[in-house]
Amino acid sequence: MEAKSQLLFSTLFLFFVSLHANTLQTYVVQLHPHGVISSLFTSKLHWHLSFIEQTLSSEEDPSSRLLYSYHSAMEGFAAQLTRSELESLQKLPDVIAIRPDRRLQVQTTYSYKFLGLSPTNGGAWYESQFGHGSIIGVLDTGIWPESPSFDDHGMPPVPKKWRGVCQEGQSFNSSNCNRKLIGARFFTKGHRVASTTVSPNIIQEYVSPRDSTGHGTHTSSTAAGTSVSMASVLGNAGGVARGMAPGAHIAVYKVCWFNGCYSSDILAAMDVAIRDGVDVLSLSLGGFPLPLFDDSIAIGSFRAMEHGISVVCAAGNNGPLQSSVANIAPWIATVGASTIDRRFPAIVRMADGGLLYGESMYPGNQFSKTEKELDLIYVTGGDGGSEFCLKGSLPIAEVRGKMVVCDRGVNGRAEKGQVVKEAGGAAMILANTEINLEEDSVDVHVLPATLVGFAESVRLKVYINSTRRARARIIFGGTVIGRSRAPAVAQFSARGPSLYTPTILKPDVIAPGVNIIAAWPQNLGPSSLPEDNRRVNFTVMSGTSMACPHVSGITALIRSAHPKWSPAAIKSAIMTTADGNDHFGKPIMDGNKPPAVFAIGAGHVNPEKAINPGLIYDITPDEYVTHLCTLGYTESEIFTITHRNVSCYENLRMNRGFSLNYPSISVVFKHGKKSTMIRRRLTNVGSPNSIYSVKVTAPEDVEMRIKPQRLIFKYVNQSLIYRIWIISRKRMTKDRMSFAQGQLAWVHSGNSSFYRVRSPISVTWK
Ligand SMILES: *[C@@H]1O[C@H](CO)[C@@H](O)[C@H](O)[C@H]1NC(C)=O
Ligand SMILES: *[C@@H]1O[C@H](CO)[C@@H](O)[C@H](O)[C@H]1NC(C)=O
Ligand SMILES: *[C@@H]1O[C@H](CO)[C@@H](O)[C@H](O)[C@H]1NC(C)=O
Ligand SMILES: *[C@@H]1O[C@H](CO)[C@@H](O)[C@H](O)[C@H]1NC(C)=O
Ligand SMILES: *[C@@H]1O[C@H](CO)[C@@H](O)[C@H](O)[C@H]1NC(C)=O
Ligand SMILES: *[C@@H]1O[C@H](CO)[C@@H](O)[C@H](O)[C@H]1NC(C)=O
Repeated sequence: MEAKSQLLFSTLFLFFVSLHANTLQTYVVQLHPHGVISSLFTSKLHWHLSFIEQTLSSEEDPSSRLLYSYHSAMEGFAAQLTRSELESLQKLPDVIAIRPDRRLQVQTTYSYKFLGLSPTNGGAWYESQFGHGSIIGVLDTGIWPESPSFDDHGMPPVPKKWRGVCQEGQSFNSSNCNRKLIGARFFTKGHRVASTTVSPNIIQEYVSPRDSTGHGTHTSSTAAGTSVSMASVLGNAGGVARGMAPGAHIAVYKVCWFNGCYSSDILAAMDVAIRDGVDVLSLSLGGFPLPLFDDSIAIGSFRAMEHGISVVCAAGNNGPLQSSVANIAPWIATVGASTIDRRFPAIVRMADGGLLYGESMYPGNQFSKTEKELDLIYVTGGDGGSEFCLKGSLPIAEVRGKMVVCDRGVNGRAEKGQVVKEAGGAAMILANTEINLEEDSVDVHVLPATLVGFAESVRLKVYINSTRRARARIIFGGTVIGRSRAPAVAQFSARGPSLYTPTILKPDVIAPGVNIIAAWPQNLGPSSLPEDNRRVNFTVMSGTSMACPHVSGITALIRSAHPKWSPAAIKSAIMTTADGNDHFGKPIMDGNKPPAVFAIGAGHVNPEKAINPGLIYDITPDEYVTHLCTLGYTESEIFTITHRNVSCYENLRMNRGFSLNYPSISVVFKHGKKSTMIRRRLTNVGSPNSIYSVKVTAPEDVEMRIKPQRLIFKYVNQSLIYRIWIISRKRMTKDRMSFAQGQLAWVHSGNSSFYRVRSPISVTWK
């Protein structure tokens, strides 16, 4: 999910209203897994086809309507049906849910150093042997296998358990896989049938695992790219590029195409990936939040989790909108985006002497360099969108030779540069609007350019208005590291509270997602524009898409160090060791205010600590089922998600006072409720004879009591339970919703070890 599309909601709605009664539409049909046992069919495929056969009104071959038959991520199939066929299908026995196919969107040389990983000094990379032997499955736009980041020099052999393939296709054959890239497949059926009715295939795209857009190459190398020295983007940010788990293997599942990523294709990829034997699934994609029983990713990942596979997803780029966080299932690690402390200053000096801070990756700023002063122009008033520099909107006579101001939004950032260049403009200033505020995602522009924040853009426009001949120059300042406060929350990073499951705090963590440098296809320009003839092995991108694979890589590191840990244990290790403070020791900021837990979750990932967390909060698959009961889901909704037949009445009677053993704490007081008791269970994965004591910062207007105050672990693997009473002291007014936050940490300082196992707490009144 790249930080571009504010238009996601409207495009999806347009897509749904264009349906007519007789047009074919793709549906994902979920079946009762016991049905096949009682039926007479020789294979699941035949059984699935029989459902289509029963609903077709004509003599058509049912297999012409079938897109996928699913077995592992879900029991069921994807098929194209008309409205009336859908209605008759709904009436058949063993059909438990039908969902229309849904379109989702795809949402470094330096970030590993920023996260404190070092290849030489022992630590997490040493303990995990760089993620040795773990397999990360990346669901994305494919991969550019020739990139030096996927060289398999020094990689261990393909793990014996691996059952995947290297699927051949356009410009991709089995020799493109190696010991780094051990598997590659593509899933195009859902996309293909949807795209013929939505828009013609205008973009050249490889029908194979080969990446046409660069996104998947970038995310795969962020998760597990090998070390590449002398990596730079046209001279910017030179250094060693390396993924988070350079010793891990990559398996690529191409599910995203120019038109988006369809849930039928995503589910097919998860279905196969579970059988292939991946250890981690990395999904840098998503849409708007959905209830768990309507969300194919939530359903497929429940099955993956039961198989011991960790699922890591992007939180989405619709921040700072409240409750925009997607991929909210508690068995998923949901990752928001943070900034890192690497900057590419490109300052605007206006002719009146005023300076505006901006950033850019134009190759001019490889070294400090001052461009010449130019006339400034901001073209407004027309109806062609000239203030946004839309294609063809700029009057060439007015723009030629000038520095053009373009507002952010509507079209891509780099595309605006191309539009200015085509109109004869000599330079560009990209001006943030209220939507982006001071968020600075840099691009590799095709002409001298910089991006300024909202406050600067207001000053710039006032200056342009104040004089008859506005002039300015750009001063490029090279690559600057370590001087700015970081990490901070990225403006676009999706925020909680979770719309459908507010008792689970989401996102879980944040990780670097702004201006991330990673591998890039060798036939694409660094700006992604078709007109860009420059060639690079690395480029810069921003989005929660870039944050997600950082956590996928860290997950692989922990898995290699602790092969028996469950996905919940690994996620707990990442969450309870995450940092709440930035590198200056001050609370991580969200714009100009300290962030709410709804922006950062447990905090900013810290892989060095996560590899050795001391204690973990583990969760069994059964406990997730009980949790779904406590959410008030119906038994059929729970069945849809878990494929388990559960009586919530019985389940909750057996598990009185149940609370999910989640590593963060989120309490909702509604209907005047004033207190609650929560239970948590900690397991010792540190040293025997460890004593932990609790340190609490209670949220405002809340009293907290914890029993016991000390946990004495005699053995490794020993589990101990504690209870938290949370009592509201707030004088309720008729206000709208209100929030408060705090934290709780179990701290052990032994002779040679120090552990701090921290959980954020959020309280919501409504
Ligand atoms: C795969 O492609 C490469 C390069 O295009 C070619 O040299 C090789 O012979 C091909 N291998 C197979 C098995 O087709
Ligand atoms: C610039 O001046 C015009 C006309 O006086 C006015 O409409 C516009 O709001 C001004 N813009 C800014 C950014 O001050
Ligand atoms: C990209 O990497 C390949 C293989 O290592 C190398 O041959 C090529 O020169 C690199 N391209 C650039 C633009 O650095
Ligand atoms: C599911 O549970 C219900 C009630 O406990 C029971 O009647 C039914 O037979 C069960 N179905 C299956 C397929 O296990
Ligand atoms: C802890 O449990 C794990 C998994 O059951 C086991 O592999 C490990 O040996 C145990 N460690 C100790 C010290 O008992
Ligand atoms: C600290 O070290 C001493 C001496 O080696 C040992 O007796 C004691 O048990 C240790 N304490 C802890 C908390 O590990």
